[in-house]
Amino acid sequence: MCGISAYIGFREAYPIVINGLKRLEYRGYDSAGIMIYDGKKMQLSKTKGKVSDLELITDEDEQRKIGTIGMGHTRWATHGVPNDVNSHPHFSESGELVIVHNGIIENYDTIKKELIKRGYTFKSDTDTEVLINLIEEVKKVEGCKLGKAVQLALNSVVGAYAISVFDKSKPNEIIVARLGSPIAIGIGKDSKEFFVASDASPFVEYTKDAIYLEDEEMAIIKIGKKVKVHKINDDSLVEPTVQKLKMSLDQIEKGGYDHFMIKEIHEQPKAITDTFRGRMLVDQSIIKMSSIEENIEKFLSADKIIIVACGTSWHAGLVAEYLIEDMARIPVEVEYASEFRYRNPIITNKDIVIAISQSGETADTLAAIKLAKSKGAFVYGVCNVVGSSIARETHSGAYTHAGPEIGVASTKAFTTQITVLTLIALKLGKANKSLSSHEFKNYLQKMQKIPRQVEKLLEVDDQVKEIASVYKDSKNCLYLGRGFNFPVALEGALKLKEISYIHAEGYPAAEMKHGPIALIDENMPIFVIATNKGHYEKVVSNIQEIKSRSGKIIAIVTEGDTQVKEIADHVIEIPETEEALTPLLTTIPFQLLSYHIAVMLEKNVDQPRNLAKSVTVE
Ligand code: G6P
Repeated sequence: MCGISAYIGFREAYPIVINGLKRLEYRGYDSAGIMIYDGKKMQLSKTKGKVSDLELITDEDEQRKIGTIGMGHTRWATHGVPNDVNSHPHFSESGELVIVHNGIIENYDTIKKELIKRGYTFKSDTDTEVLINLIEEVKKVEGCKLGKAVQLALNSVVGAYAISVFDKSKPNEIIVARLGSPIAIGIGKDSKEFFVASDASPFVEYTKDAIYLEDEEMAIIKIGKKVKVHKINDDSLVEPTVQKLKMSLDQIEKGGYDHFMIKEIHEQPKAITDTFRGRMLVDQSIIKMSSIEENIEKFLSADKIIIVACGTSWHAGLVAEYLIEDMARIPVEVEYASEFRYRNPIITNKDIVIAISQSGETADTLAAIKLAKSKGAFVYGVCNVVGSSIARETHSGAYTHAGPEIGVASTKAFTTQITVLTLIALKLGKANKSLSSHEFKNYLQKMQKIPRQVEKLLEVDDQVKEIASVYKDSKNCLYLGRGFNFPVALEGALKLKEISYIHAEGYPAAEMKHGPIALIDENMPIFVIATNKGHYEKVVSNIQEIKSRSGKIIAIVTEGDTQVKEIADHVIEIPETEEALTPLLTTIPFQLLSYHIAVMLEKNVDQPRNLAKSVTVE
């Protein structure tokens, strides 16, 4: 979490850094700051609040915006409450050095005490100010250059970081380093300018050439020179890979929509198609996924598959459990990465771990992968962000092709994860003959129809808006589903909580009797998934139980349903498909519902309070 955006070159740095910060606000948005170097002094502006609040400050004094070197930060607080002083950038004691930092320095307190003994004073409560003063102290004591001082300082800290450091006395260079938090370097034409950012979105319109630092690497970026990358723990040089960015500007803009979330909801037909394009060849009745083909023996002989993930990705993992066990008959366990990594799990080299992550940067998921690898398991990643840490750390994997997801509440990432995981389940099921050729082909044909069906389903928007207006003031909501749609109930509840701050719980419909039923009265809206093949009669009985306790029922049913329509207060119809594929459809009305409720309640849909899109701290 936290976003870093920096520039060094010949253009005015301010607009580049500020626009970069706006694109990175999904990473944190409780405070923001910028330093612009005008050739003589470092001009610092920072504030609690969003980048737009920072602009109000800089707009008061145009002078603060002038200069061709700049470094900015958008924060998600870890050490120190969000306030003006704790905002980044942070200066060193002498005012000569400045830093922006994403991550946590765990041993900051010990270092701080030592620095205080040596005469340093601290303005903020942050671990970052400790780091920049440590760098200054090392530089002074060792009499070395900035790069060396950064390296030595980093060797004595414990924690995670992506940092960008600038020294006023060396105004043609920026030092960046990474351990556990991402950092990308954009290389301008003839190395006349460079961009530094937490992801490539801030510089996509300026250059397509980028270096993604690996863990434990640092880079010395000097105007007019090739970027020099070396290891932090020794001096060995690394030849950096310059990647060609595929991201385009319109992918990271709102394109006429009011919010990124609604834009991303509407992008799902395309995102799902992009995810199966080239992989699912319906005419030939095959699924082509080289990452599975190359490792098919491992998958088929695995004792079990363990899925690790967090948040929405964990819900996609739960859907995958149902899919893989049903279609391929391989045992699957789904774990929160944060629990898995600390609970001494039983895992061997006969197990396969599938890590699911939109960002590919979630700290707990990354740690779970490392643990699984240390036990000899084969680790397969399902990520959206190309070149992300998880994509690189796993033995093999498949990308979802959702495109950049910027709204903090995940939507298209979820459906594309389910798409990839469905392809994997089908492919494994076909390979070990748990699925007949007929069943396999039927699934492919039905799958091919899904994008068009999602498109059609998006037309329920007005109806969902109406339902949203009826229930927007509820204090509590319940979401129920069974089988493949139980995880969708969890995801529906999560979406509502995240962006409208209404308490919501997801439950397996039959479990309702063991607790939540006590909460039901005339004020409780209950969203029930009652598709026609998924234990339909049982769910209808659950609906009756709710009705007889005066609960309000909003049901998602299959087109043409008559039975639930008679009992429910509202029904939303989804097109007919195989039950195993319904999560790709049933989730859509819930996304729209959360979106409209949050808009009606005037909440910040794309940047809900306290959350961040990419959680790079544990
Ligand atoms: C954060 C985001 C969620 C996301 C979760 C896991 O909490 O707000 O939307 O599901 O992290 O993120 P990942 O990038 O690993 O899928």
